[in-house]
Amino acid sequence: MKDKLDNFVSGSRPSAFVIFIIMIMLSIMIVSSKSAQAEDRHAANGKLVYDKYCVGCHGVKGDGKGAAAVNLLIKPRDLTQGLFKFKSTLAGSLPTDDDLKNSITNGLSPSSMPSFKFVPEDEKDDLVAYIKTLSPKWNIKTATKEFLKPTIPDFVGTKASIATGKKIYEERCVFCHGQDGVRDNVKFHLSWNDENSTDYTRPADFRYKTIKRGARVEDIYLSITIGVDGTPMPSFNETLSENDRWNLTSYVLSVMGKERR
Ligand code: HEC
Ligand code: HEC
Repeated sequence: MKDKLDNFVSGSRPSAFVIFIIMIMLSIMIVSSKSAQAEDRHAANGKLVYDKYCVGCHGVKGDGKGAAAVNLLIKPRDLTQGLFKFKSTLAGSLPTDDDLKNSITNGLSPSSMPSFKFVPEDEKDDLVAYIKTLSPKWNIKTATKEFLKPTIPDFVGTKASIATGKKIYEERCVFCHGQDGVRDNVKFHLSWNDENSTDYTRPADFRYKTIKRGARVEDIYLSITIGVDGTPMPSFNETLSENDRWNLTSYVLSVMGKERR
């Protein structure tokens, strides 16, 4: 046995085992460089789609300074900062690919960010791959990935739930979002802009019926639970119980004139 081992370690010809290990390592390198190439190809396609549909607002460099941006009240996102408002991940984390696709597919009405429902699914994947090349934040492997996928409880939308939600709304939300959802002319700076910026954020006005993340029950719940990064909209994950966040969802839906869907 000892002889065999010596032979193995110091033998002049490489043993079958060593060759085997080298081949495994080579194939891992080939597979990972292939997947890096595929990722590059997606991002390169994504840039073509971006130059067609997004560049006019988000700018050649993705910094939000497209030609149309000067005329917009709510400025296009500077995608080079890697900071996003609408995510299913906790406050301060990067969004998931699906979160980005959701904003691209549905748009962010009432801001000028249009809906790109007509763009084929694979082109949206490519857009996401391209967006992820615009900020170095996406290279930090630990930055994200824990996301919430809420299940809607049965009581959402009931009279009792709306009434409880209204009470909490009046204590916790009214001074920003206004009585009965009728917002005063309040505006705030975005935390990621400097103080000379004219890009303000205004609390959502629920009478408009369209809100940016979307008007599905779980969209409203996610905004209340996670907050809206960059804006004073807090995360109520730790300060309100899960049931109360659903009761608030019932109330916000009722102000929007929407039934539970
Ligand atoms: C007409 C102008 C306009 C066009 C065209 C446009 N956007 Fe936007 N986009 C905006 C505005 C304005 C915002 C900021 C909305 C806000 O913060 O309320 C935004 C925000 C975003 C966000 C950030 C979402 C978040 O969670 O913070 C992403 C991602 C985005 N746009 C991607 C795209 C992509 C990809 C395209 C092209 C397919 C595109 N946009 C085309 C105006 C535009
Ligand atoms: C300190 C001010 C402030 C408080 C308090 C506050 N919000 Fe907000 N909220 C905002 C701002 C600002 C935005 C808009 C962010 C944007 O679109 O730029 C917002 C956005 C939202 C949205 C997302 C709307 C969308 O466009 O998708 C929901 C839902 C919401 N708030 C519900 C609530 C509820 C319910 C409460 C109370 C539990 C609350 N907010 C408390 C400031 C506040």
